[in-house]
Amino acid sequence: MKLRPLYFKKDALWLLDQRLLPGRLKYTACRDHAAVARAIKNMIVRGAPAIGCAAAYGYYLASVEKEFGSVERMMEYLRRAAILLNAARPTAVNLKWAVTRMSDAAAAASAALRDFSVGATLVSRVRRSLLSEADRILRRDEAMNRKIGALGARLILKKSNILTHCNAGALATSAYGTALGIIRSAFRAGKIKKVFVDETRPYLQGARLTAWELSREKIPHALITDNMAGHFMARGEVDAVVVGADSIASNGDTANKIGTYSLAVLAAHHGIPFYVAAPSSTIDASLKNGAGIPIEERSSDEVTRICGCRIAPAGTKALHPAFDVTPSGLITAVITEKGVFRKPFDFGQKNK
Ligand code: MRU
Repeated sequence: MKLRPLYFKKDALWLLDQRLLPGRLKYTACRDHAAVARAIKNMIVRGAPAIGCAAAYGYYLASVEKEFGSVERMMEYLRRAAILLNAARPTAVNLKWAVTRMSDAAAAASAALRDFSVGATLVSRVRRSLLSEADRILRRDEAMNRKIGALGARLILKKSNILTHCNAGALATSAYGTALGIIRSAFRAGKIKKVFVDETRPYLQGARLTAWELSREKIPHALITDNMAGHFMARGEVDAVVVGADSIASNGDTANKIGTYSLAVLAAHHGIPFYVAAPSSTIDASLKNGAGIPIEERSSDEVTRICGCRIAPAGTKALHPAFDVTPSGLITAVITEKGVFRKPFDFGQKNK
């Protein structure tokens, strides 16, 4: 069965609660934009593209939360909703991208429909265009992932052992995944021998989510703790590293789950190709390089505890940057739905 981390039905956004996986498969309903913002912050939904899709529906929900006598009042409310949604997680660029697309859609629809309707009628027409826009964002995300999968699979050699970090799979997107999309496509093409799944401390997205996705599809894999990657690379057992991204600057510097940078350094040392897979909506053209990418700091409890159980002495202070930045020099190629980009990265052009 197709894995869907989110869908919109009966006036609510339904999110697969990823905090409970792999133990429980439970969808939770968000009926207003504040609930969507909380779900993003609390990691019920996670992964940059999935966060973007959720935020788009959150924005639509804001438009139906109140009566609003006029479209101006609705636009003012949406402006505040956008601020709340954007603040939910700072590193995932797809969040801001989706919210901007929704606010552009609201402005365009109200300008285009103003001559034909006023008041409550105009408000309800703008709402309809917002729901269509959120649906479009969701549908396009899956199409982009399938394209990324097909393009990326061509780079994978036969009988490859691939190492991946965190979860950039169906759960992190609308469906299919980015890094895992490449692995899925390469597996279908008969190219995958085994996937090394980094556990991904501290939140364990690899152990809990990626291993679960791969087992559902019977893709051979082995779970390793993050500090084992160098050992397997040194033994010649890793043929390529494929990861996702939360933000890519114009020069190719890439923010992804904490630990990605160390993997890239190790891969470069061992001469192993290091691939980043992401939709073009993850590229932040306003950033010259990775120095400007905001890095989310999460609670130290996520480090001192595992699944709620304390593993460090009481009172121990922990640091928890949730992402790190891999300099573009360490990246072999960035695969988006538009093509395969290599150094020097120029995302304005198709660079196959
Ligand atoms: O903190 P998370 O679980 O949201 O982090 C997710 C990642 O780092 C992913 O690799 C990234 O968002 C790409 S998902 C296609």
